[in-house]
Amino acid sequence: MPSLPADYRRVRRVSSFAELVGTPLRDGVNALCWPRALPGDFAEVAAKLARSEAGIHVLEEQELQALPLSAAGRVAIEAMLGDFRLLRDRQLDPALNYLNGGEHDDPQAIVATDVFSWHADRAPVPADTYLCTYFGRPSEGLRNEEATRRVDDPATRAKLLQLYGGADDDGFHEFLADHSYDLHYAAAPGAGPFSFGHFNLWRIALAYPGNPVPPCIHRAPATRPGEVRLMLIS
Ligand SMILES: [Fe+2]
Repeated sequence: MPSLPADYRRVRRVSSFAELVGTPLRDGVNALCWPRALPGDFAEVAAKLARSEAGIHVLEEQELQALPLSAAGRVAIEAMLGDFRLLRDRQLDPALNYLNGGEHDDPQAIVATDVFSWHADRAPVPADTYLCTYFGRPSEGLRNEEATRRVDDPATRAKLLQLYGGADDDGFHEFLADHSYDLHYAAAPGAGPFSFGHFNLWRIALAYPGNPVPPCIHRAPATRPGEVRLMLIS
């Protein structure tokens, strides 16, 4: 999967944290990427954190600092904590996560609404999502032009209408939003998703009322319990 699509006008590269937070998402651009290479042994951090429970584990600074790490492992946690502090100091509410697999939706669901499905994030007020993968398979992006909302597929919509038990009216639209069905997408045949890559810090557009750009469509890579990722999200 290609990393950092050079041809894609919606992704803009920036070269500093100040530029990442200070550049408005507009004129069609719905993702900013600060490409980076980080030193340190992130695999060692993941190995030392080893958790058997599946799902998300939020990492606290104290826990990271207490790990018995080599010098290279220490460099890795300092990089993670450095990012955490940069975002926290801007009141961006970051979290460092250890992910072990994750919850997959029922495969029979009419529209899967887990993070492994192409989706947009939503907020009631203007906000963006920041994310970085330090270890494990990176998050993935899909061009808006190669995506269709699952609720716009006639067969899917008919099934959802049946589930709702009413007409395609305001109440139905509210039902779609309440269940996040309207935030999930299908990739067009032949679509070429791209990888967010390792260490790159991304800022991506959400769906919120009045956003001048379409939301950035993304997903977590399909991972099973035992497949570990380290990431930052805010
Ligand atoms: Fe998301």
